[in-house]
Amino acid sequence: MSKVDGKAEKPWGGRFSEATDAFVEQFTASVDFDQRLYYHDIQGSIAHATMLAEVGVLSDAEQQQIIEGLEAIREEIQAGEFRWSVTLEDVHMNIEARLTEKIGLTGKKLHTGRSRNDQVATDIRLYLRDEIDLIANELTRLQKGLADLAQREADTIMPGFTHLQTAQPVTFGHHVLAWNEMLQRDYERLLDCRKRVNIMPLGAAALAGTTYPIDREMTARLLGFDRPSVNSLDSVSDRDFAIEFCAFASLLMTHLSRYSEELILWASAQFDFIDLPDRFCTGSSIMPQKKNPDVPELVRGKAGRVTGHLMSLLMLMKAQPLAYNKDNQEDKEPLFDVIDTVKACLRAYADMVPAIEVKADNMRDAALKGFSTATDLADYLVVKGLAFRDAHEVVGKAVGYGVKESKDLSEMTLAELQNFSKVISEDVFDVLTLEGSVNARDHLGGTAPAQVKAASERVQALLAER
Ligand code: ARG
Repeated sequence: MSKVDGKAEKPWGGRFSEATDAFVEQFTASVDFDQRLYYHDIQGSIAHATMLAEVGVLSDAEQQQIIEGLEAIREEIQAGEFRWSVTLEDVHMNIEARLTEKIGLTGKKLHTGRSRNDQVATDIRLYLRDEIDLIANELTRLQKGLADLAQREADTIMPGFTHLQTAQPVTFGHHVLAWNEMLQRDYERLLDCRKRVNIMPLGAAALAGTTYPIDREMTARLLGFDRPSVNSLDSVSDRDFAIEFCAFASLLMTHLSRYSEELILWASAQFDFIDLPDRFCTGSSIMPQKKNPDVPELVRGKAGRVTGHLMSLLMLMKAQPLAYNKDNQEDKEPLFDVIDTVKACLRAYADMVPAIEVKADNMRDAALKGFSTATDLADYLVVKGLAFRDAHEVVGKAVGYGVKESKDLSEMTLAELQNFSKVISEDVFDVLTLEGSVNARDHLGGTAPAQVKAASERVQALLAER
């Protein structure tokens, strides 16, 4: 390290004739936030040193010294004893400087054949890969909760909505499995994204590769990467793997925000379809009666934050010339916050979903309002010989009468119904009941309880294989 004017030492200080401005030092440093990469930085360095020894750039003794030093530094960091220095800019230079402090000259050899540019790209990928695996597990836990809830509530009837107006009766289990389908696609997107995360940039060095006889296949193998990247310029500058992860996360959060919205509505006195466990709610400091659905509300709110970070990263990459630019240091805070937010939201939901109390009677009563079996009556008339448009017209009139008389179709007498069409007979009541309506939709993807039970069993079997 070169000392400039008796000021702080910089690993790159050789060509400089004055010390870094104190504010600029703070402004350009990333150590406050990138220290969370320490574990993966050390993991990458150990693999790099192992490979360098294998190809003869380091001696075996040097390799051993470096690895022991790095392992000791990892322990210092884990014990909270490591002193992070802003002067040393980032996690990479902090660890390297400490290594040299600990093991002397040999520490200075670790950086042979690499640059912080390929190092940081490698660290982020290693870190994100581990986080992806944790997120995949939480997603699976939530999906299992949904599949079990669907199984339990396969017969529970509620109003299905379009335009948030009562449309047709559905089963609550069916509704819950709709949520699961969204999550299933999110899970598949996450695994697909992981394939592009799990590629190793190390060896690209600053941008053009290195003159040392490195073995990139070996380093990739040591780090569990699927393969080394194939273009050095792209390797150090690409962050689209992180953007793709944030796109996955934004869609996931968009889905969670939709469930949140429904849970919030359903927990209101106006719907009263569910009760959220007290431990997931908070009260009001002024209104003693309040029990607020804070968890779903916060998740709904955090969806905006995650999508905001996706936009940040897209704008960060936009128009960057090849290869590495310091702009890319700005990738970390949004990415880290997306990871933290998604993990917290999934955890809250996976814990909360199995504990939702379903008020089946209230759901049923609501389904009885709003003429939810009107389509069933129209379908019945078609079976009796009417064209669908004519049947639609007949039922429309019957509904108009029902609105005036405050009577659901199922509450009208046969004589009343026959005023609208002579083809109606006693068997009409089989289709006008809620059970008749849902049971009749007995095909793949339909809401019939039998279908919902089969569907949730399929989901449970799929999840058990993960
Ligand atoms: N802290 C930097 C980052 O996060 C590491 C790479 C810096 N490379 C450089 N040539 N200044 O991107």
